[in-house]
Parts: sequence; C-alpha cells; structure tokens
Amino acid sequence: MPRVLLILPTGTYRATDFVRAASALGVEVVVASEHRQAMAVSMEDRALVLPLDHPDAAAAAIVAFAADRSPVDAVVAVDEQGVLAAALAAGRLGLAHNPATAVAATRDKLGSRTALAAAGVDQPAFRVARPGDDVAALATEVGLPCVVKPVSLSGSRGVMRADDPAAAAEAASRVRAILADAGQDPTGPVLVESFVAGPEVAVEGLLTRGRLEVLAVFDKPDPLDGPYFEETIYVTPSRLPAPTREAVVGLVAAGATALGLVEGPVHAEVRIGADGVRLVEVAARSIGGLCSRALRFGAGISLEEVILRHALGLGLDGLRREDQAAGVMMLPIPRSGCLVEVGGVESARAVPGIEGLELTIARGRPVRALPEGDRYLGFLFARAPTPEAVEDALRRAHAHLEVVIEAS
Ligand SMILES: Nc1ncnc2c1ncn2[C@@H]1O[C@H](COP(=O)(O)OP(=O)(O)O)[C@@H](O)[C@H]1O
Ligand SMILES: [Mg+2]
Repeated sequence: MPRVLLILPTGTYRATDFVRAASALGVEVVVASEHRQAMAVSMEDRALVLPLDHPDAAAAAIVAFAADRSPVDAVVAVDEQGVLAAALAAGRLGLAHNPATAVAATRDKLGSRTALAAAGVDQPAFRVARPGDDVAALATEVGLPCVVKPVSLSGSRGVMRADDPAAAAEAASRVRAILADAGQDPTGPVLVESFVAGPEVAVEGLLTRGRLEVLAVFDKPDPLDGPYFEETIYVTPSRLPAPTREAVVGLVAAGATALGLVEGPVHAEVRIGADGVRLVEVAARSIGGLCSRALRFGAGISLEEVILRHALGLGLDGLRREDQAAGVMMLPIPRSGCLVEVGGVESARAVPGIEGLELTIARGRPVRALPEGDRYLGFLFARAPTPEAVEDALRRAHAHLEVVIEAS
C-alpha cells in the first residue's frame, strides 16, 4: 500500500478532506503536525511532530522518520505553512518536488515580485518599503491608488488600498502592527504596489514536470476594490471571453515558470486590468479554506484526490472538472467582536442550488474583520447548470444569514 506523509498544520481546514481522499485511494497516511495533540494515540506509528516554523528542521525530521520508522512515497503539504518543509523533504527523499528556492519565493511576496520582474511577467508596479523609508514617496512612484501589503501573510491579511500618499504611509504602519500581532518581524519589508483596477480571477492548476494543467478558473464576481480585499464568491467556469481566459492561463504558466515551480498544485490570482492581465500572485498549494469542495473531477473525484494521485504518480487521465457550474462563498465577517450566532442557516440551506453550508467559527468565539482577521466565518457551496445560477443561489442563501456579532 502506498504511503503519503501529509503535513497538516493545526489551523488547517483541509485535514478531513485530505484524509478522506487518501482513504478513497487506499493510501496509508502518516500525519505530521506542530503538536502531538492533533493525533490519535493509536496513530503513534503513523504520526510525527514537526517544527513547521523551521522548515529545514521539519524536513530533517521527515527524512529521519522515513529512514527509521516507515518509508513514504510522497510528502504533501495541505496548505501554505508546510510547503517549504515538504519541498525540502521530498528533495532529500528523491521524490518529485518543487525546488525549495521556488517554493520559498512563493512564500515571500517581495521574492515573488523580484523573480517575476526578472522574467518580464506582467504584474503591478512595485516598490519595497523598509523601516524609515518614505512610504508616501514610494506610493507616488508606483502611482495612486496603490496597495500596501506585508510580504509574508495570506488570506488578504494586512492588504490595504490607499488612495493618497498619506493613506499609504498610514497603511504601512498598520501592516507593521499586523505583522507584530501575527508573531512576525514588524521591521521587515512592506510592499507598495500600483492598484490594478478590474475583474479578478483565481486559477487552480497542477504542474507536472513544469507543464501547467488548468483544473479550474474561478470568477470573483464581487468587485475587489478595497480598502480591504475580503474574498467572497468564487464561481467556475469563468464567464470571461475565451481570449481573456487564455491570456490569464498563459500568464499563470509564465509566472509559475519564472518562479521555478515545476511539480504539484498551484493557486494563482490574476487581475484583468485596462492594459491587460496582471499577475497578483502564484502560490505553491491548492485553494484555501474549504473552497476545494466546489470542485469535482471525472466521476466525482475531489481536488485532494487529484493532488494525492499526482504526488504518488498515479494516473490522472480523464480528470476533467464536471460539466455543471459550481461555486463557493467565503462568508464575510462584517465587523470584529464576539460571534453570538448565525441565524437563518436552515433557510439558506433550502435555497435551490445550495449544496452545503459550513460554519467554521463556533458561537462565543472572537471574530476579526480584515485587514487584521485571519479566519473564515464559514463557507456556502452551490451547484447549478450555469455560473449565473450558482452566483444567484449563493447571493440568495447569503441574504438569509443573520450574522450577530457583539462588541467585545
Ligand atoms: N496590486 C494590486 N492591485 C489590485 N488588487 C490587489 C493588488 N494586490 C493585492 N490585491 C488584492 O488583494 C488580494 C490579496 O492580495 P494578495 O497579494 O493575493 O495577498 P494574500 O496572500 O493575502 O492573498 C488580491 O486577491 C487582490 O484582490
Ligand atoms: Mg492572494
């Protein structure tokens, strides 16, 4: 039986879906995480603790586990936090993998921008602000409005639009406070980019020996104009005209190549600006949160199964996305405070086309809105014959929800 080592950070949304996919494939799982509590005692032999903040040490622990306890056929990081450790470990174990330098570049927005610029990939103009730099002047250089963002976080955390030089300077201070709050170095570089106005799409893909196969292109029908960039609705297939879609896919492929990515899932965001398509970013992982549940391939195969099959070198032929349209809505967090309740859940579930609603923050728990927030309130899923019907179902279901948040 093939054995896969899954890197499951304690905060991941993906544990169930990956473990389920492994069992559907008849693959044995070794679970690796930062804390032992996440693992059942009965799994002693198939569990290990990894210092994910130290990818080198985490990779060494994986290699030692494979040598001393049980060999593994693939190392798969289920999301961002484990990708570098997975690439380093897979390299040392002689498994197909992305170069660690490429993965490191995807985890550092300045490293990404620099590599993309060197390869001439179309992206927003950017400058880097270090402590003491005149952010207002840098904002004027890239052109206003601009976007100020940390180089290291994800999920739009700390990403802010600024319309004038003074607002850009203020945003940079706020980014530094958010970095400190996230336990990261507040004196690190901050990016200042030109704001690319226009629709945005997300591309879900899979790289095999450097060749990009597109699994899905998602439209994001809610305008992402800032000042913060909360993700809401994703709908696939994209309604963009075919030539624009092709330009988007070409840009993502060029971006992955420029970064040096060759193997495994990629998740990318692209803006369709007035002057053409611009790459926002490429990550060396699949789509975040529970959003992958909107995707089904071939005879009902999940994205997690596709990723595991690829990592294990199993066949992937005929794995086209289903013919129906599908979508997901990441439920917005309207304000920070304490979550009292979410009403209207049954009415939302009863909307035709809605296939699921998962709330991922429990009652009584704190919730934080962007730009500080880092968790999703929950996810709504829909399937219908057309993208329009999917979007409509998601909007109608969302209108039933009453999110009650109390000041804390
Ligand atoms: N230069 C930009 N122009 C327009 N929108 C941007 C720009 N940079 C970021 N955004 C918006 O902010 C979102 C999050 O930014 P991104 O760089 O992807 O960071 P994260 O890693 O947090 O997802 C993007 O999906 C996009 O909507
Ligand atoms: Mg992003």
